[in-house]
Amino acid sequence: MQDEIAANLHLWDNWTDIHMGSRYYDVEGFISDPRGRPFDWVTREVVGDVSGLRLLHLQCHIGIDTLRFCLAGAVDVMGVDFSAKAVLAARSIAERMGQPVTFIEADVAALPETVPRAAFDVVFTSYGAIEWLPDLEPWAESIATRLAPGGVFHIIDAHPFMSVFDDFAPGPPLCVRHPYFSREPLYFEEHGSYADRDAEFVADSYAWQHTLAEIVGVLSKRGLVVESLREYPVVAWKVFEFMVKDNEGLWRLPPEAGDIPLMFGLSVRKPG
Ligand SMILES: C[S@@+](CC[C@H](N)C(=O)[O-])C[C@H]1O[C@@H](n2cnc3c(N)ncnc32)[C@H](O)[C@@H]1O
Repeated sequence: MQDEIAANLHLWDNWTDIHMGSRYYDVEGFISDPRGRPFDWVTREVVGDVSGLRLLHLQCHIGIDTLRFCLAGAVDVMGVDFSAKAVLAARSIAERMGQPVTFIEADVAALPETVPRAAFDVVFTSYGAIEWLPDLEPWAESIATRLAPGGVFHIIDAHPFMSVFDDFAPGPPLCVRHPYFSREPLYFEEHGSYADRDAEFVADSYAWQHTLAEIVGVLSKRGLVVESLREYPVVAWKVFEFMVKDNEGLWRLPPEAGDIPLMFGLSVRKPG
C-alpha cells in the first residue's frame, strides 16, 4: 500500500473511534430518531427519489447516509469503506436499527467481486470523498462496472475551486494557498478531527486535488453521460473558520468573504 494511503487509513480508523462518540455524528440520536435527521436539501436535489432502487454507497464511513437511503426505500443497499473500524461501526449501527444493509471493507479503487458488477441502479458518494483518492481512473472504473445499464452515479463533494483557498485563515479575505492543477499530495497535520476539534489525536493526512474537468472526464471516458452538473454556495461542513451556518444546517461564506462555489453535485448515467 502506498505510504500516503496507509497514513490515511490510520487516520480514518482513529477518526472512526472519535466520531462514534461525537456530537457531530450523534450516533445514538440517529439510532433513536433517524427520521428526525433527514438528508439536507442539496442531497435531496441531486439524488431524488431512491425508493425501489438498488443502491451502492462508496466511502460510506460509519454508514449514516447509507442507512438514510435504506430508510428512504432503497433496496439491496451496500456500503463500502476502506476503514475496517468504520465498517464494523456501520454494521453495528445497522444491526441495532434492524436495517438490512451490507457493509464491505474495500478500497474504492479496487472493489472485490463481493460488490457485484452491473448490479446497482444508483451509485453514490459524498462530502469529503474524492480528496482521499490519488487517482480517479480506477475509481471511475469501479463506478462504471458496478452500475447496471440505465443506472446513475451521483457525487456531491467539495468544489475543487474552493479547495485552493487557505482553510486555516482566521478571517476574510480568502487567500489562495493550494494549487488547482497539481496532482501532488497535499500534506496536513491533523489535530483532533473535523467532527471534534478538541479530541486528543494528532496524525498525518494526505489529500489530492481533482479539477472539475478531470472528474467529469474520467466518468465520460467510461461512457457515462452527464445528466446534471450543479454548483452550490453552501457546503455541508465548516471549511473556513468564519463560515456561517444557515437554518438548513449548511455552511455559507459571509458576504464580505466573496461569492464562490463551495460544493458541486454531478449526476452521470450509464446508457442502456
Ligand atoms: C469524509 S468521509 C465520507 C463522509 C460520509 N459521506 C459521511 O457522511 O460520513 C470519507 C470516507 O472515505 C473513506 N476512504 C478514504 N479513502 C478510501 C478508499 N481509498 N477506499 C474506500 N474508502 C476510503 C474513509 O475511511 C472515510 O470513511
